[in-house]
Amino acid sequence: MLFDFTTLPTKDRYKLITATVVPRPIAWVVTQDAAGVLNAAPFSFFNAVSSDPPILALSIGGATGAELNKDTLANIQATGQFTLCLVPEDALDAMNVTAINLPPEVDELAEAGLDTLPSSKVAPPRIARSPVAFECETHQLIPLGGNTLVLGRILALHVRDDCVLDAARHHVDTPRLGLVGRMHGGGWYLRTTDRVEVPRIPLPDWLARKQL
Ligand SMILES: Cc1cc2nc3c(=O)[nH]c(=O)nc-3n(C[C@H](O)[C@H](O)[C@H](O)COP(=O)(O)O)c2cc1C
Repeated sequence: MLFDFTTLPTKDRYKLITATVVPRPIAWVVTQDAAGVLNAAPFSFFNAVSSDPPILALSIGGATGAELNKDTLANIQATGQFTLCLVPEDALDAMNVTAINLPPEVDELAEAGLDTLPSSKVAPPRIARSPVAFECETHQLIPLGGNTLVLGRILALHVRDDCVLDAARHHVDTPRLGLVGRMHGGGWYLRTTDRVEVPRIPLPDWLARKQL
């Protein structure tokens, strides 16, 4: 079946992209407005896109209703700072609460019963239940039309102590993080427990294998 994206309406393009580009990691973004009101929301149009410089990218769509922007984007535009946490399975329900389209003056973290911990380089705190939190400042905001691509430069990373295997060698116990990803539709997620290992093949090994 061929789907022609040059003629499809936005909502159908969204359905096809989100049903096929899976799994997607989830950025759980904490921001503050100019008055210091906290905001949190999940974004699965998200990934790490560069380590030099260290950049995370997320795409924020237009808000529904009277607001011009989703609160997250408005806060990033106003302050240039955010904390980007990753979502463990035991926080899925709380994450879902922070996705409710609440008015800007409502602190979604309080609404979801989530505690925070202070950040070291940016004002927005991090979500205590998240085993991974990146402190970010805006690197670039790229308007895409209905969406805005936020490129965030990583200033610091927090990894929960029991998930660090060897701090000096920067080795993390990734399975222990217990992170989830987003699947298709509005409410499907997946665990990261079903893994396969495929070691990289050095060129000499590949050439030797072909000569056999
Ligand atoms: C798992 C999940 C992933 C989401 N991903 C995105 C996304 O990539 N981009 C987006 O604009 N909205 C996304 N949303 C919707 C926002 O989280 C939702 O609009 C939220 O209310 C925005 O909050 P804010 O206005 O406080 O920024 C997602 C929702 C869920 C539950």
